[in-house]
Amino acid sequence: LPNGLALTPPMGWNDWNAFGCDVSAQLVEQTADKLVSSGLAADGYRSVNIDDCWMAPNRDAEGNLVPDPVKFPDGIKAVADYVHGKGLKLGIYETAGTKTCAGYPGSLGHETADANLFASWGVDYLKYDNCYNQGVPSKQRYQAMGSALAATGRPIVYSLCSWGTEDVASWGGTVGNLWRTTGDISAGFGSMLDIFHTNVQLAKDAGPGGWNDPDMLEVGNGMSVTEDQTEFTLWAEMAAPLISGTDLRTASPDTLRILGNRDVIAVDQDPLGKQGTGISSSGGLDVLAKPLSDGSVAVVLFNENATAATISTTAAAAGVPSSSNGGYALKDLWTGRTTISGGTISAAVPGHGTVMYRVSPATTRQLPPSTTLLTTLP
Ligand code: DGJ
Repeated sequence: LPNGLALTPPMGWNDWNAFGCDVSAQLVEQTADKLVSSGLAADGYRSVNIDDCWMAPNRDAEGNLVPDPVKFPDGIKAVADYVHGKGLKLGIYETAGTKTCAGYPGSLGHETADANLFASWGVDYLKYDNCYNQGVPSKQRYQAMGSALAATGRPIVYSLCSWGTEDVASWGGTVGNLWRTTGDISAGFGSMLDIFHTNVQLAKDAGPGGWNDPDMLEVGNGMSVTEDQTEFTLWAEMAAPLISGTDLRTASPDTLRILGNRDVIAVDQDPLGKQGTGISSSGGLDVLAKPLSDGSVAVVLFNENATAATISTTAAAAGVPSSSNGGYALKDLWTGRTTISGGTISAAVPGHGTVMYRVSPATTRQLPPSTTLLTTLP
């Protein structure tokens, strides 16, 4: 959506994956504190997003949405002020239907009033769900809220939670800043893999201002550390929104390390805004390539199977510009180590694991001392 927002994929946190309906002002504010104290805010995680169940069961006499008085005793504006005071943004949730998925009042037919209310509270991001939609075409329902948001004059990132229905990837970019491409993720390798297989095929629809959304991260919610690292790698390679869905207040060192890997985040946030694509796939061994703004390419070797395997490709196949000296620098974005290659990109990849390289033509300084060595490099 050309509203000037989300020129790179949105980054932040959302309560749903870890807490379901157990959302509250206290949870949101404590998470904002942790985003700052952990360094994740400085890494780019800026939007603290409230999901379903923040409302009281009914609109007030004037037809306005009412925050649940127990969960949000001082209302949403107070939470927005708190979050803004930390240099962060506040996201909220509603539904393009008569009720939210959990049964609270929906926005269908109330778009202008609800958008104005959100803007008056200082909301910066709206996730707009798809339950109880009365069979009205989704593009029409999502456009109605989009126009209402634009009319508020407040910059509000617009997230279409449209579950991949009605071919949303083909029109999502004219209506919103991101659009869900699948049903809900759960914290298991199979769920993550299914979503990856769907989302990776939609690369042509993504770009600055409009992103495919394969749902929020499950890092820290029960997969193995290898699988968590794989989800983060694949999501970055697909230029997906990086919205943590875990309890950051109690997150493990591994979870914070994965979410805070700045080299991987830089692949996701690369200003060129190209979603990575599959360049080969055979027997569950996949190679993906994502062109980056400096001319390098992020190459992912992904082992879908449970047992370790070697996965290989070449710099040429990945589209890395050829190097005048014949050498390529491969930076492993999880170990931080750089190796020099004559074009082969290959690694032993653990079961359910990934290896991610940032590949660029080698500079002469990076080459081994004797140029004859080059011909012997793999
Ligand atoms: C369905 C969405 O896909 C989820 O992400 C979450 O927002 C729930 N609805 C909330 O009811």
